[in-house]
Amino acid sequence: MKILVVGGGGREHALVWKFLQDDPACEIVVAPGNAGIAQIARCVPVTATDIPALLELARVEEVDFTMVGPEAPLAGGIVEKFRAAGLAIFGPTSQAARIETSKRFAKELMLANGIPTAGATFHDSLDSAKAAVHAAGTPVVIKASGLAGGKGVVVAQSTEEAENAIESMLGERVFDQAGSEILIEEFMAGEELSIFVITDGENFVMLPPAQDHKRLLDSDGGPNTGGMGAYSPVSLASAGTLKTIADTIIRPTLKAMKSAGSPFTGLLYAGIMLTPSGPKVVEFNCRFGDPETEAILPRLHSPLLPYVQAVANGESLEGFHEVECKPGHAVTLVLAASGYPAKPRLGDAVQFVAAPPGM
Ligand code: AMP
Ligand code: GLY
Repeated sequence: MKILVVGGGGREHALVWKFLQDDPACEIVVAPGNAGIAQIARCVPVTATDIPALLELARVEEVDFTMVGPEAPLAGGIVEKFRAAGLAIFGPTSQAARIETSKRFAKELMLANGIPTAGATFHDSLDSAKAAVHAAGTPVVIKASGLAGGKGVVVAQSTEEAENAIESMLGERVFDQAGSEILIEEFMAGEELSIFVITDGENFVMLPPAQDHKRLLDSDGGPNTGGMGAYSPVSLASAGTLKTIADTIIRPTLKAMKSAGSPFTGLLYAGIMLTPSGPKVVEFNCRFGDPETEAILPRLHSPLLPYVQAVANGESLEGFHEVECKPGHAVTLVLAASGYPAKPRLGDAVQFVAAPPGM
């Protein structure tokens, strides 16, 4: 088997590692990969957003299917372009990826279908956004509607902090077009869970849950980031809670996406808040989460490849078994560049004395 993996982060490293565990004979090409991945697979210098070059690469390499790591190529329509060219690929179409790329789309889908989530209003003017904050009180959550690399959310403890966030997103446009519309959202208190399901658009298989550490600094301080670390398993995620999440969130979301004419295939990531009134959706992502993937995949006893390959080939997951986990625990620790998340210094080398055990 030959696979093209698109992306170059820890998530893609974990995916490549797991595919090789499942099938040591499989050949993997990674675009663009990174120095760590290059120790276990062949990396080629094609960027993850250059869809025409990726299509050409998949053709020339004659891969059996392509696995997309990050959201940007999905938002750019890589899945529909590969499918139109007759190539198997794992991920949602750009229409279905709106569940991540447009917080308005996701919020309206949830509110229209009774999927539990925080209430929210949408604003493109400073005055209406500020009026909404005054009406909501604090704490209150301010979110850029578009993609902002996991950094477009401010949980404001005071009106002043909320107004500053509104000024920087809508006024100064720190997230460019991604912040041309913002959401003012009800604050949800509780512990968070990251839920991954692999789906053919209707049937789904849930992977073991993880918890992601979002704040930059110790003791939950500092700004939100894309994620500073993750661990799995999560003691809060009882079988009953996971069943509630499957029944009240995952299944209705897949049904709503299908009814909306954009069935979701690939990996649906639900960021869940375990509130006193039950699990509610914080956000959806349209791909494997990072850094959770690095904590989840090493725990899988079952192979991942058959699920991913079936979905990439457009086959049904009906009859596929639930995944089994190994005993033990896994933790991801993120080593962030200086200045992260506001202005990371790019290009610094990271030298490890030895690879972590098992990698
Ligand atoms: P998001 O990018 O939407 O996942 O938001 C990033 C982080 O901000 C989440 O993981 C939460 O920690 C926090 N957050 C987002 N929305 C809310 C909310 N409505 N209530 C409380 N915390 C939130
Ligand atoms: N860890 C959160 C994300 O992948 O967006």
